Amino acid sequence: MPSRSLDAPGRGHWSGRTAFILAAVGSAVGLGNFWRFPYLAGENGGGAFVLVYLVCVLLVATPLVMAELLIGRRGQASAVASLRRLIDEAGAKGLWVAIGWFGMLAGFLVLSFYSVIAGWILLYLPKAAAGLGAVDAGEAGALFEGMLRDPAAMMTAHALFMILTVVIVGGGIGGGIERAVRVLMPAFFLLLIFLAIFALIIGDAATGLAFLFSPDFSKLSADVFLSALSQAFFSVSLGFAALITYGSYLRRDVEIPQTSLVVTLTDTLVALVAGLAIFPIVFAFGLQPTQGPGLIFVTLPVAFGQMPFGGLIALIFFVLAAIAALTSSISLLEIIVSWLEEKVRWPRIVSAGAVGLACFALGIATVLSFNAWSDVRPLAGTGLLESATLFDLKDFIATKVCLPIGGLMIAVFVAFILPRPITQDELGLGDGAFALWRLLVAGAAIPATIGVLLISVGLI
Ligand code: TRP
Repeated sequence: MPSRSLDAPGRGHWSGRTAFILAAVGSAVGLGNFWRFPYLAGENGGGAFVLVYLVCVLLVATPLVMAELLIGRRGQASAVASLRRLIDEAGAKGLWVAIGWFGMLAGFLVLSFYSVIAGWILLYLPKAAAGLGAVDAGEAGALFEGMLRDPAAMMTAHALFMILTVVIVGGGIGGGIERAVRVLMPAFFLLLIFLAIFALIIGDAATGLAFLFSPDFSKLSADVFLSALSQAFFSVSLGFAALITYGSYLRRDVEIPQTSLVVTLTDTLVALVAGLAIFPIVFAFGLQPTQGPGLIFVTLPVAFGQMPFGGLIALIFFVLAAIAALTSSISLLEIIVSWLEEKVRWPRIVSAGAVGLACFALGIATVLSFNAWSDVRPLAGTGLLESATLFDLKDFIATKVCLPIGGLMIAVFVAFILPRPITQDELGLGDGAFALWRLLVAGAAIPATIGVLLISVGLI
């Protein structure tokens, strides 16, 4: 019988369940909630997609969130070291440590472009405060294109955002991350609710609601199902070992199953409310919903430019997006900083600064992908991802390759490699609930991650 894990003495911990939930929701709620979920829902069957997404979150993503958290809490160390400990405890093969390495690689790659996109948001803050000045699509497009052609501005904003991230992570778990999310997350929720109510009043609520929620089951297909799944994984921050890392700062008395459910459901709710805040405005001004940068940097500014209090609303919107990005980027940086801290005896702020600096450097390639290096297509002529820029490649490797492989390995590891006494003890579930969790991991998460992986790399 394996011994019970203890809270590692001398290691930072969340002060309690609420602090952890704020941090984990902060990690989950990010750019993915704003610019991908609402659009995916609208395009893929509205309410029918929302239903499928909810099933994916409940039956596939939540059991895997529980899995990551249990690995971290049992390990009480960085993702890689936690996995090593569990592998030792289970007498398993060393290859499972790869979960941690994949996670760190993916986190590093994602942070190197997340920070650049967050930098765009920072650049839009003063523009929004000044009223944006864009009233038609041409002007809004020109504003965005103008920014993309200005690598110096993008680099400065990218640096600024990275410094913010480094300062928070450098403050440690309690003094940095927890302190930041205790202020940022409540502010985020207040602003989001305000914005949604405002949008429903001033915008075209009926069309917005219909776009998001009227169910069209004829649009559902295997493809739609798999895109709901991969969006669910990305949105709750699965597969990057971020939740292993955050879980390692959890105390024994926090119940992992309930807490996981709160985190995944809150993330889903935020995605839906974000849709309510965006689409009524988009439709009220006769605009078309799009996804990605176009939605928040081009379409919405046109709407903001025409509506009453548009400048203020634009400012609130970009502050909201900046907070969402910041509370996600700190968890991305923490994955690597927690590992580096075990290797070196530097003060935490130095470790955070070193990783941040490396990530900033890699982010320069992201910045240049939009201008000076926009013609650099590393894989041209290979028959694979020929037109991908450096930015596209980083995105592909992290979210299309590392994420589903990490998710699959985690599912197999907890379902078949870790002995049941470890997993059941850590989850604190009775026999029936535990059997259900294991069934979901083995029977739903494993085939689902394989499906996502195959479709991601274009095999089916
Ligand atoms: N969940 C974040 C979003 O919705 C993005 C993300 C994916 C992430 N994986 C992560 C953030 C891991 C932090 C850690 O935008």
